[in-house]
Amino acid sequence: MSNQLLKNKTGIVFGALDEQSIAWKVAERAVEEGARITLSNAPVALRFGKINELASKLQSEIIPADATSMEDLTTVFTRSKEILGGPVDFVLHSIGMSLNVRKGKHYTDLNHEWMLKTMDISALSFHKMMQVALKTDGIAEWGSVLGLTYIAAQRVFPDYNEMADAKALLESIGRSFGYHLGTLKKIRVNTISQSPTWTTAGSGVKGFREFFDYAQKMSPLGNATAEDCANYCVTLFSDLTRMVTMQNLFHDGGFSSMGISPLFFAEEAPSEK
Ligand SMILES: NC(=O)c1ccc[n+]([C@@H]2O[C@H](COP(=O)([O-])OP(=O)(O)OC[C@H]3O[C@@H](n4cnc5c(N)ncnc54)[C@H](O)[C@@H]3O)[C@@H](O)[C@H]2O)c1
Repeated sequence: MSNQLLKNKTGIVFGALDEQSIAWKVAERAVEEGARITLSNAPVALRFGKINELASKLQSEIIPADATSMEDLTTVFTRSKEILGGPVDFVLHSIGMSLNVRKGKHYTDLNHEWMLKTMDISALSFHKMMQVALKTDGIAEWGSVLGLTYIAAQRVFPDYNEMADAKALLESIGRSFGYHLGTLKKIRVNTISQSPTWTTAGSGVKGFREFFDYAQKMSPLGNATAEDCANYCVTLFSDLTRMVTMQNLFHDGGFSSMGISPLFFAEEAPSEK
């Protein structure tokens, strides 16, 4: 269903790898709501992912970029301005990667060179993106920038490993840059703290099935899907939310407000109901 919430708006969507990706769903929904967009992902993802299929379906151009490279990001914003006819109205940062997680390193035994890389890809890239956008006049006044995060930034989920620290930094960068982009250009910046979602990045985390099932039971509404997340992103790109900025917004079916849930124990010990 389309309400044309993003009619006449343009945007850049970073991080669509395959149809499971949250960014993939956001790109589809944004276009369905009337937006014109460009897509970006790392060159390696262009080779192994399916972003070409998405681009042809949405009639969008792909601008390859390693999100840690200022030069690549500058190309994304300058090319997007050319393709879309001016500064864009919204940007989605949907990027995360941890070598320590991939290689199964324990939090108490991390490779710190890899940890720096994780911070660069998963958090600093958000700062780099906004710095480049400012320098290239890449985002229009009253534009909206979103990053995706996870509750492990506030509460301990041991298996989320160093990504918890990367997400804490990402959220902080969102608030800090939100001040500057707000005062300079009336651009808003928020992070969405999403439920566990079955994607390539998500399912790469050790014990992801447990993360997912636990949150599913603890959340009064259940886990939010990638499609739900895309709908929420559309509202935050739209003019209906123009005064929301510098927030970490939980999109998790109520999980973040729960202490104890009888539902959790009901299934664990049905005989005691
Ligand atoms: N899946 C979950 O459970 C979940 C929950 C909360 C938040 N998130 C966050 O949502 C975002 C999107 O992840 P997803 O779950 O859709 O998984 P995904 O694997 O589909 O997306 C991650 C993307 O990051 C891109 N990427 C990695 N390194 C890059 C680099 N150097 N330059 C540019 N792009 C790079 C990948 O190519 C991929 O497209 C991430 O920030 C993730 O941490 C995911």
